[in-house]
Amino acid sequence: MEITTRLQLPAHLKPRPTDEASLRFGDIYSDHMFLMDYFAGQWRNPRIEPFGPLTLSPAAMVLHYSQTIFEGLKCYRHPNGRLALFRPKDNFKRLNVSAARMSIPPLDEAFLLTALKELLKIDGRWTPRHPEASLYIRPFVIATEPHLGVRPSQEYLFMIITGPVGPYYKEGFAPIKIYVESHYTRSAPGGLGGVKAGASYASSLLATEKAAQKGFTQLLWLDSVHHRYVEEVGSMNMFFVLDGKIATSPLSSGTILPGLTRASVLTVAERLGLPFEERLLAIDELIEAQKSGRLTEAFGSGTAAVISPVGLLNYQEKDYVVADGKVGRITQTLYDELVGVQYGHKPDPYGWVELLD
Ligand code: COI
Repeated sequence: MEITTRLQLPAHLKPRPTDEASLRFGDIYSDHMFLMDYFAGQWRNPRIEPFGPLTLSPAAMVLHYSQTIFEGLKCYRHPNGRLALFRPKDNFKRLNVSAARMSIPPLDEAFLLTALKELLKIDGRWTPRHPEASLYIRPFVIATEPHLGVRPSQEYLFMIITGPVGPYYKEGFAPIKIYVESHYTRSAPGGLGGVKAGASYASSLLATEKAAQKGFTQLLWLDSVHHRYVEEVGSMNMFFVLDGKIATSPLSSGTILPGLTRASVLTVAERLGLPFEERLLAIDELIEAQKSGRLTEAFGSGTAAVISPVGLLNYQEKDYVVADGKVGRITQTLYDELVGVQYGHKPDPYGWVELLD
């Protein structure tokens, strides 16, 4: 399919942020967006247009039944000025897994990557130079058919928008405080937790807001059957260092998002010879380990969150400090390697970096 392009008028191009050190997450958008429609059984009309509002029927199915999925990836500026994507094919593969779960027709993954590269030929200059900033890329699909019966939509819109971002948490690469949620749950077996469906994020809002009111940056979700096993944070997967070994929850229950940063952390750990395991982690086990000094580090991983050290867990209204509230040694090692590869300060023996022309 040929991509048609309508460029923004030069006089309407937006000023790019000058103070990249104070960029936050998700407030600023580049000049253009990619769009593609689905109707009459086919994806069609791929196009790049100036970033701007959509026209949508008030009966569009996404507005009523939340049939929507998304991805998140980043473009980094390397020291020599070249732009690089990190594992983009894996993001588009996961988008199709989400599509299948949400009854959305599959998309051509190779074409999506071509489309993204076309968009970045125009807007790649929005990629920041600051060492901790990047260009966040948000591909997503919404159900657009005007119809109020509950069934899969027969019309969709796929889009990619981008924008320069700084750290996801205001703390940056500094330990955050996490509230362990023992009442609300994020995902049940057989549900949506293993895919990137907007609905999962909507259902997380109330509990996250309540935790924020108590002073916590994020929530750690427990499993919905026993309210006991650690799942994920919502904006990131969780890792703990227990008895010197990195541990993270397995994906087998289908209730945890298979994070690409999570997978990358495990591969990096293996390559650096750091012991690790995927196993069920009960919150009472973690609390006991904290009390006896065997829980030495905790951190989260995500595209937006990168690697975020966790300095405190609050469970049943009690605080449990981890790594003296500082960044642990293993957390720092994994951060340095991953971020080094992403930003081109370190070689990429993993084959994850895709340089742009
Ligand atoms: C990401 O890390 O890109 C995510 O999708 C998490 C989020 C900001 C919801």
